[in-house]
Amino acid sequence: AASDKVRIIEVGPRDGLQNEKKSIPLATKVELTERLAHTGVPVIEAASFVAPKWVPQMASSAEVMEHVLRQPPPSPVPVLYQFLCPNQKGMDNFFKVLDSAPLTPPPSPSSTSSKQDKPEVELSIFTAATESFTRKNTNCSMAESLERFKPIFSTAKARNIGVRAYISVALGCPYEGPNVDPHAVANLAVTLLEMGANEISVADTTGMGTVPRTKKLLETLSQAGVRAEDIALHFHDTYAQALPNTIVGLEHGVRSYDTAVGGLGGCPYSPGATGNVATEDMVHMLHSLGLDTGVDMQRMAEIGEWINAELGKANESRAGKAFLAQ
Ligand code: HMG
Ligand code: MG
Repeated sequence: AASDKVRIIEVGPRDGLQNEKKSIPLATKVELTERLAHTGVPVIEAASFVAPKWVPQMASSAEVMEHVLRQPPPSPVPVLYQFLCPNQKGMDNFFKVLDSAPLTPPPSPSSTSSKQDKPEVELSIFTAATESFTRKNTNCSMAESLERFKPIFSTAKARNIGVRAYISVALGCPYEGPNVDPHAVANLAVTLLEMGANEISVADTTGMGTVPRTKKLLETLSQAGVRAEDIALHFHDTYAQALPNTIVGLEHGVRSYDTAVGGLGGCPYSPGATGNVATEDMVHMLHSLGLDTGVDMQRMAEIGEWINAELGKANESRAGKAFLAQ
């Protein structure tokens, strides 16, 4: 049944790497997305077209995207690649790469199709449920951030490119505390869906979310008319509440979850917040519930171990480490 399937959005190459202080070689970034593309994960957020002055680690995103577009589509599962974008300039840079990339050559001379498409790509935009976080992260007000999205939605629509929208600090703000108004999140979600977003990623940037407040937020979203299938949940695991909160999401019918291999990550404008919930931990739990992610646990666990070693960090995935040790 369709409801037994859960969609994992692997955000490790973007959310996972953006906060690393030491410059990561392009080859490592490219190898990470390539290896992830062969785990069965259906969506990968590969890079971000933000201002390099603000997030230097993402300065090589055009090169990462060029590599991604040259990759032969992995089989059997084709991957959708997402690219984070804060404003018109970011979108222009995204299209510059997309439009200059050659089409992927057909896999064999005997292939019947004369040309093959590029892998499917999508933009992800981001705003936040509090004024102070919006200001710190994107240097504008919440209203201004929505204004910035208008040309992005119209161009993306004309070009037939999907747009997903993040709402940061939905369950707690580093500047305003844990009790972010769930109605502010719901109003933003409704507005972004009306503007043309194909999915809202409701983000617990700080990891302050708890089971009761996650429940309250999902109820408030539902009362505002936001359907479970319009939502993805994006948990940072700072307080180890990502999996309990995921259970709440599953009970509400949400079937899309953002995760990062090896528990990589953190937002540069959310001090103290740790990585995203580890993909391996999420996949292990979902599989134990009889839900299907399509993700190969062995491959994912190996990538988590490898990338953390590359970064000189401890592997943050409990399930990944246990899986490899057994
Ligand atoms: P600003 O300084 O107000 O921008 O920053 P500006 O328009 O005044 O331009 C300043 C300079 O940046 C100019 O260059 C622009 O050309 C350049 P200069 O003339 O000084 O040489 N610039 C750009 N360059 C490349 N790409 C662009 C771009 N835009 C301007 N797109 C801005 C405003 C939004 C650009 C900035 O605040 C920014 O880049 N913020 C992004 C911060 C960020 O990446 N945060 C992390 C990602 S969000 C996140 O992690 C949360 C999430 O995971 C969900 C969750 O967990 O909550 C998604
Ligand atoms: Mg995040």
